[in-house]
Amino acid sequence: MSSSLTVRVPAKVNVQLAVGGRRADGFHGLATVFFAVGLYDHVTASAADALTITVEGPDAAVVPTDDSNLAARAARLLAARYGVEPRAHLHISKDIPVAGGMAGGSADGAAALVACDALWGLGASREELFELAGELGSDVPFSLHGGVALGEGRGERLTRVETSGSFHWVFAVADGGLSTPAVYGECDRLRELAGGADEFSVPAPAADPKLLAALAEGDAAALGAALSNDLQPAALSLRPSLADTLRAGQDAGAIGALVSGSGPTCAFLAKDAREAASVADSLAASGTCRNVRTAAGPVPGAVLL
Ligand code: C5P
Repeated sequence: MSSSLTVRVPAKVNVQLAVGGRRADGFHGLATVFFAVGLYDHVTASAADALTITVEGPDAAVVPTDDSNLAARAARLLAARYGVEPRAHLHISKDIPVAGGMAGGSADGAAALVACDALWGLGASREELFELAGELGSDVPFSLHGGVALGEGRGERLTRVETSGSFHWVFAVADGGLSTPAVYGECDRLRELAGGADEFSVPAPAADPKLLAALAEGDAAALGAALSNDLQPAALSLRPSLADTLRAGQDAGAIGALVSGSGPTCAFLAKDAREAASVADSLAASGTCRNVRTAAGPVPGAVLL
């Protein structure tokens, strides 16, 4: 057992997000390709008498420090599973945009699992951590996994995807977040207007072979052309100004553009690091987003430093 340790965990962008019909349990079957990028949160766990959470970073004020924080839920779930008291102070140093469609909350949940397992000396297996992660949320297992992976089921059933080389991304962070359930709800509403939103009306989602080939070959232009997100129309419907952000990035020379996950962060693929810096400058000057970040990937999932 050690008295303090830190886990680094990356953000994600879904390079494909194919959404099936609404299931009886309210979730949607997915075929999604998660891609971990080098934008990180750090979660430090230290010995304490009770479970407490503090957050630092530009968006710290809007991150809950109560039991609705996924890191707190992760610590409690792990403690309950092993029959120990959830005694830890978790300090989250937050760099991933909050409620931005980049799995920031899920990342902190995954990091807390790894950190508390080590702090409490539980020795949980990787399989056990993945199972707990899947109980916490659909994106949490991928935050443990990292790299690039196909997510099926709710997104929690992962298969590693082959890639070569590095891809260069620009992220336009919007003012304010979007609620994931609200975006799925809007997707259902738009689909109902078009004829149906349930599993019998919407085709089963499937991974795009062109996108998988582009990743395997390290072909940024082909990946840019294959990016797709079934939640994008819903995110645009709830936040029409995102169309201006997407256009600004495309006009600046991005080779691919899409809303990240349920949004509102917009993700742009660039040819190389230099182009990414140039797209980032143009986006920052466009006045269509709150701030702009660049990041390369794929990068590993949650790791104990
Ligand atoms: O699993 P997670 O807690 O991250 O999901 C948040 C919400 O997003 C769910 O309550 C549901 O409304 C929606 N969701 C969904 N289908 C998925 C994943 C999430 O409808 N596959």
